[in-house]
Amino acid sequence: ASYETLIVETRGKVGLVTLNRPKALNALNSQLIAELNTVLDGFERDPGIGCIVITGSEKAFAAGADIMEMKDKTYPESYLEDFITSWDRVAQRRKPMIAAVAGFALGGGCELAMMCDFILAADTAKFGQPEIKLGVMPGAGGTQRLTRFVGKSKAMEMCLTGRMMDAAEAERVGLVSRVIPAAELVDEAVKVASQIADMSLPTVMMTKESVNRSYETTLAEGIRFERRVFHAMFALADQKEGMGAFAEKRKPAFKNR
Ligand code: HXC
Repeated sequence: ASYETLIVETRGKVGLVTLNRPKALNALNSQLIAELNTVLDGFERDPGIGCIVITGSEKAFAAGADIMEMKDKTYPESYLEDFITSWDRVAQRRKPMIAAVAGFALGGGCELAMMCDFILAADTAKFGQPEIKLGVMPGAGGTQRLTRFVGKSKAMEMCLTGRMMDAAEAERVGLVSRVIPAAELVDEAVKVASQIADMSLPTVMMTKESVNRSYETTLAEGIRFERRVFHAMFALADQKEGMGAFAEKRKPAFKNR
């Protein structure tokens, strides 16, 4: 399949999605989100894919939701179409997803990056929630996810002023896991994704589910959830393979079961 707003490739067991609306700095319109959901549906179904990377261009990961598409929208229209809710499907994926961010990740672009499991940033990355300057606020999770990433004070400042955060600050405060020279960003992200894709897929998916559980529950319940899933892992052939390979001093060959 070919897409108008995305470039889709596979590199080994990694699905690589490049946002591709260069004339609008990858502004996220409804077509792009629909195409992204279609691609992610396919990767989720494909047993050959173990990890997904979402990236943009050198200049912009994405400069936000498409302002031209939003500017004349009315309240009843946005209510009836449940505007933005389709974006949530990106966050509900079960396979791991890495955002590889260079340049602007603003508004909905920052929110899309935060829906991924972690963010690798080029040294050129700039993050921000500038919606306030447009007379609105973040609508795709920004007020909630940014606060969980960086804490209330910084999230509040960013949402109320619209100021951008550079890559160094984003790493210091924990919004991104690592900063990488821009020229190496996509290769490094694919390398990290390949490492994850070589692990046992059910183990990876259960680990993702367990980390995400910590956002939704108390510590005691989260620990209980982790323990139940941890015990369940001893039912996987891949646990025997992983620990057996260590004991035999060889590399494990996981079979995703
Ligand atoms: C539609 C956009 C756009 C956007 C940029 N463009 N961002 N179009 N929606 N979010 C378009 C510009 O109109 C312009 O088109 C082209 O991309 C290049 O942008 P320039 O502004 O000329 O580039 P530059 O001077 O380098 O400035 C880059 C920028 C600026 C600082 C990133 O483009 C900017 O401030 N963009 C808007 C950022 C923003 O407010 N994002 C939040 C959106 S609201 P032409 O045709 O003139 O060449 C949002 C809501 C989320 O995300 C809540 C629900 C999802």
